[in-house]
Amino acid sequence: GKVGVLFGGRSAERDVSIMSGTGVLNALKSRGVDAHPFDPGTQSLAELAQQGFDRVFIALHGRYGEDGSLQGALEQLGIPYTGSGVMASAVGMDKITTKKIWKMDEIPTPDYMTIDPSTDLDEVLVALGLPMIVKPPLEGSTIGISKVSKADELKAAVDVALGFDPVVLAEEFVTGREFTVAVLGSGKTARALPIVEIVAPEGNYDYQNKYFTDDTQYHCPAPLDAALTEEIQRHAVNAYRALGCEGWGRIDVLVRQEDMRPFLLEVNTSPGMTSHSLVPMAARAVGISYEDLCLEILASARL
Ligand code: DAL
Ligand code: MG
Repeated sequence: GKVGVLFGGRSAERDVSIMSGTGVLNALKSRGVDAHPFDPGTQSLAELAQQGFDRVFIALHGRYGEDGSLQGALEQLGIPYTGSGVMASAVGMDKITTKKIWKMDEIPTPDYMTIDPSTDLDEVLVALGLPMIVKPPLEGSTIGISKVSKADELKAAVDVALGFDPVVLAEEFVTGREFTVAVLGSGKTARALPIVEIVAPEGNYDYQNKYFTDDTQYHCPAPLDAALTEEIQRHAVNAYRALGCEGWGRIDVLVRQEDMRPFLLEVNTSPGMTSHSLVPMAARAVGISYEDLCLEILASARL
């Protein structure tokens, strides 16, 4: 039947989504799937309902695409879709709620505080120390994120993040190495792919280095010993299940230099599928081509 590839959208990650969706669309077509583009950023839900799609591949990132709202609309329209359902998408989009659930399930994640315009920033400095990371909890692709190294930088960092979300997240800074773990499947069959290590120029894996430079180095499988590899993959699968994620996702992880302890940062329930993206890289390491990965994700589409 007819497959819709949803990309574009209205979030700050629109441009990333266009790169992801174009890749997915071309891959599905190359394998004979009757795939068609659809941009919920410029086309309405009424139009979506009229396309006659059998199912859709969600290649949207950020709000109105990854956050459960579109998933809810697709449920209402009766159109099966890839990836997590309404609840896991909504929870996974919110880094604060994600961390609350992970802490309850004893999944390691950096200590944090929430900040709104009335918060006493001196209390945050005392509680978390420096450096710290300030993030808008509902954004992706490092948008609106600052590292705060000096006390007098905190106010500006909070103001940047408050430009995106009404409550923002301040997290203890973990000095160490950066990794990501792709997870495929749902429930008991969820499985981790090989870990990817990210070595960014000056440790700065920002928007530019994520998508536009070739200066970031990736190592997959990550050069870690077997025990730590297994521990990180186990945490990633548990973290994915704890939120009720389905289909596919990607969990970002830091390993602290001083004691090699892993800390999970966030889940991406609709991860990047660009030419620089990490889920395709992890899949390739176990012999799954980009095209086969797209087919596998599409096959998991459900209501
Ligand atoms: N939010 C981007 C697309 C990612 O995590 O891959
Ligand atoms: Mg993210």
